[in-house]
Amino acid sequence: PTFTVLNGPNLNLLGKREPALYGTATLADVEALCARVADELGYDLDFRQSNHEGDLIDFVHEVRETTSGFVVNAGAYTHTSAALHDALITVAAPIIEVHLTNVHAREPFRHHSYVTPVAQAVIAGCGASGYEFAIRRLASLDINREI
Ligand code: DQA
Repeated sequence: PTFTVLNGPNLNLLGKREPALYGTATLADVEALCARVADELGYDLDFRQSNHEGDLIDFVHEVRETTSGFVVNAGAYTHTSAALHDALITVAAPIIEVHLTNVHAREPFRHHSYVTPVAQAVIAGCGASGYEFAIRRLASLDINREI
């Protein structure tokens, strides 16, 4: 079984982009963390990033019937993309929305999310650890897991 982690625009710059806000861990560091935790729990990891809205939607279509769970940090598309919302609503497996920062303590335009209505849970403000918490939660939600 596989968990899918979907990262939206500008997250490829993690570690270099506003490090005071987003931390110094790079996206490769976040991927390594997710892979280690997924492996510990008995899952493969499919870790994706794109700066293009349509590519994110294509990724969702690609795995929507096979993934055991989604971790979604859609970056700024969180706040704008009805199209990503419409793609995610077709996914049967649980979705957990993650944000590195506490979006609710930031600018008002970050307070609304198109992902939240299709998410089982939202983790915001825990930095890269939020991805780990999300994967652990997905594993505990997965009734098909063998342990
Ligand atoms: C973010 C928060 C978004 O508002 C922002 O556009 C991002 C990153 C976060 O992880 O805190 O790109 O999703």
